[in-house]
Amino acid sequence: MREAFSTEMGTLWQADCLKWLPTVASDSVDLIFADPPFNLGKDYGAGIDDERPEEGYLRWCREWCDELVRVLAPGGSLFLYNLPRWNVHLAAHLDGPLTFRHWIAIDIKFSLPIRGRLYPSHYALLYFCKGPRPRVFHPPRQPLETCRHCGGELKDYGGYKNRMNPRGVNLTDVWRDIPPVRHRRHKNRGANELSLKLLDRVLDIGSEEGDLVLDPFGGAGTTFAAAALKGRRWMGCELGNTAAIETRLAEPGEDARLLDRWHAELGGLFTDRARTLRDKHGHDSSRYRLVTDET
Ligand SMILES: C[S@@+](CC[C@H](N)C(=O)[O-])C[C@H]1O[C@@H](n2cnc3c(N)ncnc32)[C@H](O)[C@@H]1O
Repeated sequence: MREAFSTEMGTLWQADCLKWLPTVASDSVDLIFADPPFNLGKDYGAGIDDERPEEGYLRWCREWCDELVRVLAPGGSLFLYNLPRWNVHLAAHLDGPLTFRHWIAIDIKFSLPIRGRLYPSHYALLYFCKGPRPRVFHPPRQPLETCRHCGGELKDYGGYKNRMNPRGVNLTDVWRDIPPVRHRRHKNRGANELSLKLLDRVLDIGSEEGDLVLDPFGGAGTTFAAAALKGRRWMGCELGNTAAIETRLAEPGEDARLLDRWHAELGGLFTDRARTLRDKHGHDSSRYRLVTDET
């Protein structure tokens, strides 16, 4: 275990999380995000086992889950991203020491069909808090979901159209707008990497500026990048190579640009793009109370 690098916002350790987590103080972390290997036999580099017998994998997950429960501050929030296959067990393990809040379905567009099964179309993001309720809960309001071709509503809001909050609709527990990180320009290393948009939202929901965020599976550093850009302190570890994380945090320009783009879409019932499409395709937006009505 060694300290890989530090910035003014946080410190990364190159370490096995089961060795590093015991060094973190109890009840000290405001928000935890964990995206472990899914035990799908992926190559994360030398010495990282992603193909364990089922019970061995779950035993390993329960071990670091117990550490995450210990280090989480009262009122703190834990988000755990995994396949439904594993999170069904981990949710049962965490329910008791922590309080269950949500099973958030993250829609995935490009999965492969599995013979004899339903087509897998979501990953599970578990959301728990320590104690009866979270200290921070600020789910960001969202624009209406619209067709990317014509701007038409995907849901019918019926008679509620003239009574909607002009700042957007309530965030639901099904997230269809999280893009995969595929384009090489947005990708910080070869292996799995989550969208910054997912971390941006998670940090909005469960933390405030100055709070401390922990991620025990650093990967390409998406959690740390989001935390730093959003004024949160961070700490974490990664067993594999940490060079990509260090470079990413030293050069935050591309991440900052992406965050700005997504933030510009928030704050109203329709994004600019949806509005343009709606006008072009003759969808009547006037029945909604729009931000422009307020200003
Ligand atoms: C799914 S990736 C995380 C990706 C990350 N959320 C991101 O967006 O960049 C899981 C990471 O956990 C790391 N890892 C695997 N076993 C570990 C362990 N025992 N301790 C710490 N990190 C580990 C892997 O090297 C891999 O980078």
